Amino acid sequence: MSTQATEATASLYRDYARRWFPGHSELYVQWATGVANTPELLALVSELPEPRRQPNLVFAAARFHGCPDETFPQLQKYLGAHWPAIRAIVLDHATQTNEAGRCATLLPALAMVAAQERRPLALIEVGPSAGLCLLPDLYSYSYDGAAPLGNGSPLLRCSTTGNPPIPRRLPEIAWRAGVDLNPLDGTDPDTVAWLRALVWPGQDERLERLDAALGTLAALASGALQAAAGAPLLLSGDLNERISELVDAAPKHAVPVVMHSAVLAYLGQAQRARFAETIATLGCRWISNEAFFMDAANRSQQGSDANFFTLALDRVPLARTGQHGAELHWL
Ligand SMILES: C[S@@+](CC[C@H](N)C(=O)[O-])C[C@H]1O[C@@H](n2cnc3c(N)ncnc32)[C@H](O)[C@@H]1O
Repeated sequence: MSTQATEATASLYRDYARRWFPGHSELYVQWATGVANTPELLALVSELPEPRRQPNLVFAAARFHGCPDETFPQLQKYLGAHWPAIRAIVLDHATQTNEAGRCATLLPALAMVAAQERRPLALIEVGPSAGLCLLPDLYSYSYDGAAPLGNGSPLLRCSTTGNPPIPRRLPEIAWRAGVDLNPLDGTDPDTVAWLRALVWPGQDERLERLDAALGTLAALASGALQAAAGAPLLLSGDLNERISELVDAAPKHAVPVVMHSAVLAYLGQAQRARFAETIATLGCRWISNEAFFMDAANRSQQGSDANFFTLALDRVPLARTGQHGAELHWL
């Protein structure tokens, strides 16, 4: 293993320990710092293909395999003892974190479309992972501590500024579908374990929310929970290849709404531009909740604060949103 590769890995782990983990997972700060300072572990991680070396993926794989959330020396021992199996998990899995909490920031935009169109919505999500953001009508919401809207589970709490148009009732969803490079079956126990491993240690609220949303998805899929629209139809493929097909397949009495969150970052500039150009031809509404938003010339623009997403409806920015749905700052 070249010194250059191990130095790059050390710098990646230091960067996560300084920039991304603090305030979210103290254990991951400790683990990432430990790996960055341990030549044997740097050598192991540096054998992985470059895009698979990120600490969040490697740590999720270790925890999925059974590594307990304990101190760095425990992690070091565990990685040393089980590396071939953990390596195989890293190579076979991706960071497809699915955050149902984002429905709290998507809801006002969905309700605006429903009010303008006076028709039920056909929700089409690109990059839905397991499809948990396709169930906004089945959760409940409390904005700024107000009495809950809806009676589903989980209850999504969100604080706001700027007086966003919080709806009085949840929009009617007639159909839910999505396309993902690797759609996940959120009713499969192994997939559930992977989604749980992707939540960083210490983020107990996120884990509770994930479990509750997966419970709602399972109830919908089994028929124990009845709703106008059934479980999401998830296609496999690239969003640019399959979006038109999905919009065409939406029931005609409903207004097709293409939406996405935390997905555009996985695309290059050309793929983002192609997506925006395609959307413009499909006759659908478009809700985007991303670090980027697309301008009228189909160029992606970066939001002003890297910690927030921009919520946009049909290219018009509406709000800055907390990445996990806990904050909504209306513009
Ligand atoms: C971080 S997850 C976000 C999941 C979900 N949107 C949410 O907000 O919880 C990003 C998802 O986008 C998918 N993805 C990335 N590039 C894609 C592409 N070109 N076409 C379809 N899906 C893609 C990934 O497979 C992954 O499931």
